[in-house]
Amino acid sequence: MPRFRTLDELDVAQKRVLLRADLNVPVKDGKVTDATRIERLAPTIEALLAKGARVVVMSHFGRPKGPDPSQSLRPLVEPLSRAIGGRPVHFAADCVGPEAERVVKALRPGEVALLENLRFDKGEEANDPEFARALATLGDVYVDDAFSAAHRAHASIAALAHLLPAAAGKLMQAELDALGAALEHPQRPVMALVGGAKVSTKLDLLKFIIGKVDRLAIGGAMANTFLFAQGRPVGRSLCEADLAATARDILTQAERRGCAILLPQDAVTAEALAPGVVTRTVGINAVPMNAMILDVGPASVAAVAAALEESRTLVWNGPVGAFETPPFDRGTLAIAKKVAELTRAKKLLSVAGGGDTVAALAAAGVTDDLTYVSTAGGAFLEWLEGRELPGVAALTAS
Ligand code: 3PG
Ligand code: MG
Repeated sequence: MPRFRTLDELDVAQKRVLLRADLNVPVKDGKVTDATRIERLAPTIEALLAKGARVVVMSHFGRPKGPDPSQSLRPLVEPLSRAIGGRPVHFAADCVGPEAERVVKALRPGEVALLENLRFDKGEEANDPEFARALATLGDVYVDDAFSAAHRAHASIAALAHLLPAAAGKLMQAELDALGAALEHPQRPVMALVGGAKVSTKLDLLKFIIGKVDRLAIGGAMANTFLFAQGRPVGRSLCEADLAATARDILTQAERRGCAILLPQDAVTAEALAPGVVTRTVGINAVPMNAMILDVGPASVAAVAAALEESRTLVWNGPVGAFETPPFDRGTLAIAKKVAELTRAKKLLSVAGGGDTVAALAAAGVTDDLTYVSTAGGAFLEWLEGRELPGVAALTAS
């Protein structure tokens, strides 16, 4: 990865720092239900304040089509303030123009402002140079700490980075360091664990990753497509039959590239996906015609655990079963615990990301045990597809 400037290399004393954050956090009834992204942003703000900067935080929130009070960033003022030790956060009810200028102008060194949702302005998603210039007038330097939005070529992420001296924030830096340690210069053997519902949404990821890792374990409903492609019975399981040839092609490519593939050896099945249904654990060649595969079975968990024991690095995206509906969370939870145990014992460097995966790790109570859990969903996936992320590219080119 080309080098990017870090906070340490940026002179920010007295300066107005435009800080692109990702405050797109889950909110219910006006309350933040998961503050992880805010907490992970806080050290960057604190580092800037300690250097005497005036910090202007900007972010998108939701997917509004123009100004929409229900998607205002105002409810984030208090949680943000709390995350930075109770320091006040001034709010600008617009992200550009006279209101934003007034709030930023009143900022003293060591103070923080939050601008209204960038997506209220259509220039943001259009990567409009005019809008980027309007944002640029509010700052002297630019810091991007929104790795989780780095896959969006939007004005505050792409165009703006070229208008001011730019650097990566601490969270952006930590994300890029972790991802680099997992796939760019990893300790081998490297294992990937990929789950989730559909092969179709992870085709690019699978094709890229088999060229990078030594072994790939596939779980979740997407494994059913591979099992079907191998001529095994999958009953009424979720399965993309039209992708059978693609799945076979991935298996062939993997073999050619020296990437061992682990598919489930057994399955927990049921006739319906519902809590408390009667389940049957069967060998992978014995899935009943009227049943669905809803989780991996104990033999599969043991095989994944053994592969993890033999690996030094793990990249994980996607649960291996329908984990939102117990008891089909068992396989995912057992694997999460194994990953945590090996990481704690310093035998494994583990990096995980994606909304469902992060939720599964939290449910297993092991989030803090992994080497790194990304705050990103879509950006983490695109990175696993080997794509250039506009937000990262803008930083390295500026
Ligand atoms: C996310 O939550 O994945 C990022 O904030 C990006 O949001 P978006 O998918 O609406 O662009
Ligand atoms: Mg998203």
